[in-house]
Amino acid sequence: MKIGSLTLDNNVILAPLAGISNLPFRILAKEAGCGLVCSEMVSANGLVRKSKKTNQLLDSLPAEKPLSVQIFGSDPAVMAEAAKIVEASGADIVDVNFGCSVKKVIKTGSGVALMKTPEQSEALLKAVRKSIRIPLTIKMRTGWDKSGTQAVGLAEMAEACGVDAIAVHPRTATQGFAGQADWSIIAAIKERVNIPVIGNGDIFAAEDAVKMQQETSCDAVMVGRKAIGSPWIFSQVLARIKGEKMPSVDLGQRFAIIKRYLQRSVRYVGEEQACRMMRSRLCWFVKGLPHSSQFRRSINHISSEIEALEIIADYQQRLAQEGGVPLSGE
Ligand SMILES: Cc1cc2nc3c(=O)[nH]c(=O)nc-3n(C[C@H](O)[C@H](O)[C@H](O)COP(=O)(O)O)c2cc1C
Repeated sequence: MKIGSLTLDNNVILAPLAGISNLPFRILAKEAGCGLVCSEMVSANGLVRKSKKTNQLLDSLPAEKPLSVQIFGSDPAVMAEAAKIVEASGADIVDVNFGCSVKKVIKTGSGVALMKTPEQSEALLKAVRKSIRIPLTIKMRTGWDKSGTQAVGLAEMAEACGVDAIAVHPRTATQGFAGQADWSIIAAIKERVNIPVIGNGDIFAAEDAVKMQQETSCDAVMVGRKAIGSPWIFSQVLARIKGEKMPSVDLGQRFAIIKRYLQRSVRYVGEEQACRMMRSRLCWFVKGLPHSSQFRRSINHISSEIEALEIIADYQQRLAQEGGVPLSGE
């Protein structure tokens, strides 16, 4: 699969997830075979103002490549400048956010609010396209209002502006995450543009990805929420798409992933901050397992890596002794 000049190993993609798809998390997705990882959304204003915290979001490692960095903003000149900064950081793709429906973002005319200002969106995409040489993509919803009719027009306009691929999460701005994603909009966009269309929304199992491809003819699938706590979903989606036997994830593999995530987070943000972050994050990975509430309570107080590793090891040992933990994917 190609996005502009970039060739991906496969067409299974990690969605941008604010507060989640940071460097350590993206590497987990990549290790599970994901063909492209996306950063969380990064403020164009923050990049241009040289905010240290915002610029840290551009940190990357060769192990996760290729990397798409998503920026959000509404001013064409600021977005063009931010895109240049992203390109200079070594990212492989610049993605523009046309989908965020958080109040703080839409108040500034950014995210999904761009879907109601086509002229400004066109100016923005043209400015960003002119400012970078690497591939440019956008990620959008079906539309601003309940009609959800803006998506196809925006897709056509984006292609005319030189955008190299379009990711579609087919819910309206007002829907948030409620209801079901309307995959028919992905199919409608695929019929109208010649650039790759990336289908997103409600892939919770490998079968869903295959179904989305069959129903919409999308060129790639993007997984968001299911990857949180189950990054191995990528290996399972890949296998199903290739028609191979789906790999299952046993207890040992699951806990090895948890430990790697913790250790890399400590290396990436330092022990104190990583422990604060891991108090909630490590719980994602044990959802549904026996005694997970007890694990949650213990992990909620960690203040060092060693302490966390001990709690993880004790929990793993308890589960192994009791046996009967189902393999994920079976
Ligand atoms: C916690 C969270 C953070 C998200 N952050 C972003 C973001 O930064 N940029 C973006 O375009 N979409 C963001 N999304 C939307 C996802 O990328 C994706 O479009 C949506 O979750 C639907 O896909 P899914 O059904 O596979 O989760 C976020 C979603 C969640 C749940």
